[in-house]
Amino acid sequence: MSKFIKPVTGRKIRLGFVGCGRISQKHFEALEQHKDNIEVVAVCDEVEARATQAATRMGAKAYFSLDSMLEDKTLDVVTIATPNGLHPQHVMQVANSGVHVITEKPMSIKLADGMKMNQHCIDKNVQLFVIHQNRFNDTVLALHNAVTEGRFGKIYMITSNVFWTRPQDYYDKDGTWHGTKDMDGGAYLTQASHYVDLMQWIAGSKPKSVYANLKTLARKIETEDSGVASFEWENGIIGAMNVTMLTYPRNLEGSVTVLGEKGTARVGGVAMNVIEHWEFADIRPEDEAILKANYDTTSVYGFGHVRYYENVINVFRGKAKPLIDGIEGLKSLKILTAIYDSSEAGRPVVFGEGINF
Ligand SMILES: NC(=O)c1ccc[n+]([C@@H]2O[C@H](COP(=O)([O-])OP(=O)(O)OC[C@H]3O[C@@H](n4cnc5c(N)ncnc54)[C@H](O)[C@@H]3O)[C@@H](O)[C@H]2O)c1
Repeated sequence: MSKFIKPVTGRKIRLGFVGCGRISQKHFEALEQHKDNIEVVAVCDEVEARATQAATRMGAKAYFSLDSMLEDKTLDVVTIATPNGLHPQHVMQVANSGVHVITEKPMSIKLADGMKMNQHCIDKNVQLFVIHQNRFNDTVLALHNAVTEGRFGKIYMITSNVFWTRPQDYYDKDGTWHGTKDMDGGAYLTQASHYVDLMQWIAGSKPKSVYANLKTLARKIETEDSGVASFEWENGIIGAMNVTMLTYPRNLEGSVTVLGEKGTARVGGVAMNVIEHWEFADIRPEDEAILKANYDTTSVYGFGHVRYYENVINVFRGKAKPLIDGIEGLKSLKILTAIYDSSEAGRPVVFGEGINF
């Protein structure tokens, strides 16, 4: 039930994919699990070997430019997994062809670009989906359900730590965009954006203000490798977030803690994959099972892409609404860009009126 999508029935949804790099593997794994509903018919990468390899794996046609891939007029939707700084131009390009579009997070580096992308898709009658797959992890869903069911009572504070490791050679690899201002954006935009999204999703309110201090403490890069940020939401919740890519010697923690008048919960592990604390005034029979909602992960990306595409399929089948659309993507982008603005200005950013998300 998207006002832009005419339900696809009696055939598979036809998907094109652009950006066959690291995260494409997670997408392809997920799409293989949904092969009864979606077929990947076209893949594209400007590095020809990557496009060709992806095409062989997915049984798709290889393209080496997005323009040429969009000449295929049978595409229903295109997924964009190119570097962050290219998302705006690629989303607009796909929308101009009248094809629905799924973009990897963050939807853009600048808020103005994100707003333009969202409006452009509306103007072109195209559905925009933004990937924040961590919302679909069992551990995260359990936490969010506890919030919406009111189990915390009044929530006082939400905090998050992203203590990960990205060595210098991660930023120095040939042709990489990581650590650059215009393509990556920084540790908050690239590595911590899911956590900002989860904090705002759990807070369930518009942000009131953000005060941040970002630093490049060790890596030789244009962006921050570390930072601290504090938040206040309109519903009175306060919180803070610590991010570093300098943790010795490996990823240590990716967590969100919620502290309320009647409950305390902490979802942690290296990437929100373990319920570390789960304690409520109203003890419920399902709590024991929830404590087992942990999953082993060899990847900080989790397994949410499968469930993300499940929602995309249901939207195309006319059975569901998009759970994370352009406006949902903008909610975290608004906070992320304020983190950078605040750090640069050396003072809090107070959100004004006029932006309705
Ligand atoms: N959802 C998640 O958990 C998650 C995890 C990792 C990355 N990401 C996001 O996915 C995106 C891709 O990240 P990655 O780690 O796979 O990067 P990557 O560098 O490994 O892959 C990007 C690919 O895009 C290709 N490309 C660049 N410009 C192109 C163009 N103009 N036309 C066609 N292809 C082009 C590159 O050749 C490369 O193969 C980024 O936005 C990143 O933030 C999301």
